[in-house]
Amino acid sequence: MKFKKAIDLSKLSFETKRDINFFIKEKFQDSTEFTQSQISKIEDIAKSLEEGYPRDYLIGNSEFYGRKYFVDQRVLIPRPETEVLIDILKSLNLADGSILCDLGTGSGCIGISLAMLNENFIVFGTDISEDAIRVARKNNLTYKKKNFFLIQSNWASCFQKDSIDCIISNPPYLDKDDYHLADLKYEPISALVSNLYGLEAFEIISQQAKQLLKKGGYLIFEHGFDQSEDVEKIIYKNDLKLIRKIKDLSGNDRAILVQK
Ligand SMILES: C[S@@+](CC[C@H](N)C(=O)[O-])C[C@H]1O[C@@H](n2cnc3c(N)ncnc32)[C@H](O)[C@@H]1O
Repeated sequence: MKFKKAIDLSKLSFETKRDINFFIKEKFQDSTEFTQSQISKIEDIAKSLEEGYPRDYLIGNSEFYGRKYFVDQRVLIPRPETEVLIDILKSLNLADGSILCDLGTGSGCIGISLAMLNENFIVFGTDISEDAIRVARKNNLTYKKKNFFLIQSNWASCFQKDSIDCIISNPPYLDKDDYHLADLKYEPISALVSNLYGLEAFEIISQQAKQLLKKGGYLIFEHGFDQSEDVEKIIYKNDLKLIRKIKDLSGNDRAILVQK
């Protein structure tokens, strides 16, 4: 059956039409004829896209810091605002041999980007989710970074005292009742929500950073657009030094650089 005869694209939004056309081109190349089951599958996908299913999950990849990463529903889709964490790390000019930890690595996009910056960095990516570790491993098979190591762990609990030069993390930071969650229903809840009104991960990681960073070592967090003051309080409570706050493109404080 001819696709255009079988499905009425005119009823779909511009974005869904674009994504469906892209999907068909990728999956079926130059076919013009489709079986009934293929048509039904495409109709189901169109319906999900209209209901907010993310395009990146449909096409199976997402871009971060100029590179493509495989993604599916086991991991958060990398966000452009997270790229600022890589720029902050770059500005530190860390020495060869530095030990960096990307806590809550998800797809591995931060850790692999760090491993690419300098072959002589030793980069660890941790995640509590075995599924996420599998996805990050798949991405590292693509980029073959021999200096990137994955560990299933509760944040940095697998590391020794005074052993890390820099901890970098984009942890889950939404409150369980945050209204944004309605639009994020296809992404893993454990990648989005944290207890204590979205602040628990910052508390735990800051406590670990105090113990596990070398003296003078750095901690870099991405946080929510309205969490800057709360995260700052957590930093001071853990006897860490605020170095600077970094804004996103909308002018909101979005990341923080801290030192032990
Ligand atoms: C916001 S996502 C960030 C994913 C990726 N780093 C990125 O920026 O796209 C947070 C990640 O933290 C992980 N996570 C949640 N709780 C954790 C814990 N206790 N220990 C380690 N990782 C955890 C989630 O599984 C998820 O992959």
